Amino acid sequence: DNGGYEHYLLKEISEQPDTVARTLRGRIDDRFHIAHLGGLNMDARETRSFRRVKIIGCGSAYYSGQIGAQLIEELARIPADAEPASEFRYRSPVVEPDTLYVAISQSGETYDTLAAVQELKRKGGRVLGIVNTVGSAIARETDGGIYLHAGPEVSVASTKAFTSTAVAFALLALHLGRVRDLSPADGRRICDGLRRLPEQIKEILTLEDRIRELAKKYADAPGMMFVGRVRGYPVAREGAQKLKEISYVHAEAYPASELKHGPLALISPELPTVAVVPDDELLDKNLTTLGEIRARHGRILMVGHRTSEAADDCIVVPRNEVELDPILLTIPLQLFAYHAAVALGRDVDRPRNLAKSVTVE
Ligand code: BG6
Repeated sequence: DNGGYEHYLLKEISEQPDTVARTLRGRIDDRFHIAHLGGLNMDARETRSFRRVKIIGCGSAYYSGQIGAQLIEELARIPADAEPASEFRYRSPVVEPDTLYVAISQSGETYDTLAAVQELKRKGGRVLGIVNTVGSAIARETDGGIYLHAGPEVSVASTKAFTSTAVAFALLALHLGRVRDLSPADGRRICDGLRRLPEQIKEILTLEDRIRELAKKYADAPGMMFVGRVRGYPVAREGAQKLKEISYVHAEAYPASELKHGPLALISPELPTVAVVPDDELLDKNLTTLGEIRARHGRILMVGHRTSEAADDCIVVPRNEVELDPILLTIPLQLFAYHAAVALGRDVDRPRNLAKSVTVE
């Protein structure tokens, strides 16, 4: 039942205040400013023992894993990175005893991710699952994990599972951080920030009319560039992925810092740029990049925490803590892709050539 929405995708985007709240429910401890994650099946000593975190998933799950890796590095100071599960499983990965592996899957049935989990288990790796579907294959094969509790996701393009996965990673990072060196004060800052998310998502959803107009304005471009730095980069990748999947507009995502090493050659009025520009320590660098795009007559849609004369159009979202801002910055890009797809008359919920869950090799 699509709840009166024209498409499941819009329903699922609109549900996010609630789905994020569900991922958080009962998991924030205000006494010690820690996360309660009963399903991890790890004691404090084991939780402290990991020296590296490796995250795997496919498609949007992989991009949410990139946000997760940054959260873990920032909050727990453990080296972490994400890789497509489909690549990981074929390159005979070195499985280390002091590495925590985390597999992400909305469906819990994606074959590439499942095969990677099985390969890890066979080699004795410790694997957690961040999964939406209770009792799914990946949930069963992992040693423990975090359920998203986001409810069924019907539309092929992932939205609410993406934000809930990022929230689950924030909880995991808080947990790993607080058994290490994350201070109670920083733990509290993150707990408070997490609790603000649902209301702030509601605020972002009120921007829908304006985002629809912007999507119409930019949707006739033959292609779009998405850029971001560090925390903004996985957001840019997910924004490009959403646009490709459902509107079939070609979209490329690049780290903003890499533009001048190649793709700047593509910039012209025909290739507008979506720039993800949070108000963090990289703001000035990002605004310089916008100037470089401007100088090549590239049109710019900036998504961030302020307006800027360097951009043609701006979408301003509420600020949270810098570590959590990627979660909020993703949402306008979901709405942008949705309205671009609608403007172009696409089959929004069932895009051509794609399946919700790829259970074959
Ligand atoms: C893809 C879907 O094939 O699988 C994506 O089209 C999804 O939307 C990806 O992100 C991974 O799916 P899952 O269920 O493992 O998260």
